[in-house]
Amino acid sequence: MTRSYFPSIFSHTSKPRLFEPGEPEFWNDPHISKSMLEAHLDQNHDGASRKTAEIEKTVHHLTGSGFLKTGDRVLDPGCGPGLYSSRLCMEGVQVTGIDISRRSIDYARNLAEKEQLDIDYVCTDYFDIEYEETFDVVLQIYGEICTFSEEKLDLLLNLIRRALKDEGIFIFDVSTRALRMREGLKNRWYVSEDGFWRPGKHLVLEEGFDYPENDTRMNQYIIADEDGAVKTYRLWIHDYSLETISLALEQSGFEVEQVWNSLSGETYGEGGDWIAIAARKV
Ligand SMILES: C[S@@+](CC[C@H](N)C(=O)[O-])C[C@H]1O[C@@H](n2cnc3c(N)ncnc32)[C@H](O)[C@@H]1O
Repeated sequence: MTRSYFPSIFSHTSKPRLFEPGEPEFWNDPHISKSMLEAHLDQNHDGASRKTAEIEKTVHHLTGSGFLKTGDRVLDPGCGPGLYSSRLCMEGVQVTGIDISRRSIDYARNLAEKEQLDIDYVCTDYFDIEYEETFDVVLQIYGEICTFSEEKLDLLLNLIRRALKDEGIFIFDVSTRALRMREGLKNRWYVSEDGFWRPGKHLVLEEGFDYPENDTRMNQYIIADEDGAVKTYRLWIHDYSLETISLALEQSGFEVEQVWNSLSGETYGEGGDWIAIAARKV
């Protein structure tokens, strides 16, 4: 007998409350983590990581501007397959890369071994880190901090601040509402075979929800398998302006030292898709 999708699908189609979690197994789902690694490495889009040319520009800018120096101890939380960590190690930086995805860390470790790069890769949740005054720089790239509610961001900023040496620097980027308005809200469905979400045939119901009063958007993906199993994934994005991110940093004991429109050093101007920041621990 075929199970009906409809009761479980309907229970997931109303607008969720702000930062209501979806399916918890995402980064380490066997199939999704494989798709995610492919996306990190794919040079045709910027879905999970920026392309190699942009990563090169970022490394060049951060070393050239003196924010990263030979011998610095750097923490890269959410390092993925180590695209920045490995490049920075080649520049003489001592890197610790942390990621929750076992598949990405395995890839990063293999690459480091092959290239003979001495990088400390740790597979863990970065909310579990316990470093104290250890790093000169914490580098968190590709809007990672936009995925959290204000409460969780406070928690993360406190852990990062504790991990930094006195006057250490936190370098990161956040997306802005301008990018979100340009992207618009998706509302579509399709049937896929061996796609991003599942290896077999499955139905994808994709819907975007806007929370303009919180500068937050959420892309929801309801995935229905052929056997009737239904799971709902939610990807939350809290966008920032220079004012809102500066305030969050100030409240957590950081002072904005330098601002750009991208981590590759584009001069800051209002209205850009991204804001890149170097903030000092005070
Ligand atoms: C958008 S990707 C960016 C990866 C990398 N920074 C880059 O730009 O190439 C986000 C990464 O953060 C990792 N991640 C997400 N939540 C995490 C957590 N709580 N602890 C550790 N890693 C996490 C994911 O596995 C993924 O590799």
